[in-house]
Amino acid sequence: LLCALAYKDSEYTVQRANEYIEENKYSVDKTYRPHYHLKAPIGWINDPNGFIQYQGEYHLFYQYNPYSTTANKIHWGHAKSKDLYHWEDLPVAMAPDHDYDSDGVFSGTTIEKDGKLYAMYTGNSPNGQVQCIAVSEDGITFDKIAENPVLKASDLPSNAQPQDFRDPKVFKKDDIYYVATVSKTINNTGQVLLYQSSDLIQWQFKSILLEGTEEQGIMWECPDLFELDGKDVLIISSIQMPAVGDDYRNTDTVLAFIGEIDWTSGEFHVESVKEIDHGLDFYASQSLLDDKGRRISVSWMNMWGRSYPTADLNQGWVGAMTLPREFHIENGYLVQKPISEIAVAYVYAAILHNVTLTDKTTVISGVAGETGQLEVIVDLSAANSFTIEIRAAKNEKTVLRYDVLTQELSLDRSQTGVNITGSENPPLFARQVKVPLGDNNLLSLQIFVDKSSVEVFANGGVETLTTTIYPTEELAQGIQFVAEGEAIIQNLTYCHI
Ligand code: FRU
Repeated sequence: LLCALAYKDSEYTVQRANEYIEENKYSVDKTYRPHYHLKAPIGWINDPNGFIQYQGEYHLFYQYNPYSTTANKIHWGHAKSKDLYHWEDLPVAMAPDHDYDSDGVFSGTTIEKDGKLYAMYTGNSPNGQVQCIAVSEDGITFDKIAENPVLKASDLPSNAQPQDFRDPKVFKKDDIYYVATVSKTINNTGQVLLYQSSDLIQWQFKSILLEGTEEQGIMWECPDLFELDGKDVLIISSIQMPAVGDDYRNTDTVLAFIGEIDWTSGEFHVESVKEIDHGLDFYASQSLLDDKGRRISVSWMNMWGRSYPTADLNQGWVGAMTLPREFHIENGYLVQKPISEIAVAYVYAAILHNVTLTDKTTVISGVAGETGQLEVIVDLSAANSFTIEIRAAKNEKTVLRYDVLTQELSLDRSQTGVNITGSENPPLFARQVKVPLGDNNLLSLQIFVDKSSVEVFANGGVETLTTTIYPTEELAQGIQFVAEGEAIIQNLTYCHI
């Protein structure tokens, strides 16, 4: 009865959200809407949540405010897919309709138990942040359980600040349920906490899995934790990690810790740590293990603390997810590949072999567009640099440049169209990012463009750069190549998607 009352009294309900979406979704402006990336029908989207394969289909939930283009009164939006790029919108799964989540159904994850889908998420309210459970029999309608919250401030270790306690990643290992959540320490650093349970409802504190250093940001968010290629991987999203050289130039940063968990002590022994995407719009990564044994991850393709042109232009929506990526570990580091399914959508527009470019700007017939995939392997033994200008028009371009001398790949959106602004003081916001690629004169790039995004996979996904862009000049369709010295394109394919 209490649950029913709380639901009834709330201004924000699942039913109201779904009715609002149905009535208003056709008003959304399509100018910058992604074609093959997951986006919400209308409104604001942030973190991916609850990514799982359930009853044979991929389900992805997300942080969602259908009513406006700001991050308020967050719900869980929901979509499903058979192939990870055709997404079907489903009804909103959860609304902030209880006292303990009245200010937002914050991020979390799902797990299947006895055929049911359990969602574990953070309830955000004026009373603080707590962890809650909701159960679904059909994967679509969720009931928040009477025992909520299942983890609260009194479950925190003594080094934690209670107001920042969120983003449960739930998983099962050796018949025990675990949840990894983040909290802020009294030193204003991030940490990941581990709890365990036999039923997903009663939880015991196990350990501090990993505590961040001062250099690793003021708080961690959205942990992901899994085994991959014989190692343990912990991914966290760090708030305001200070830049070091070319690294952590983003406002907030996604880090992968690779190492080994000691399951007796519950401690993570770190062997390597690395920023996993050097672009400007990549955050809150979450993964699943699918029935083909693939570890597939999706991230929010946007960033906090920046301007959102689609909101400023009253286009009725903000935010999308990255293309799902398959993770592997190669030479001790995380490597990302676009999901293979996307190749089915390719409409080949250009294929070239052995073309030498020398000291001028080259346009290749058929290579242009707002939504496509460009793959190029280029021999730079006799070149000083190689540049691809994406979404180019007379006065606009997004510049991807490899400098052979410094071996750095840079992505620059400063001439891209609508200027994106963000916090300059402290200088958290960059327009150009760079990443070293190592000693190799053979450069391979795979680039996905989708209306207002660019995702670059360099050298087989050893490095990636993900960034949103908002071209204006007749929505800039051009792609052009610039070589300094002699660049030999061994292979090039361009496909519309
Ligand atoms: C990360 C985050 C999470 C939180 C959610 C709120 O982007 O801040 O920590 O649960 O977004 O929408």
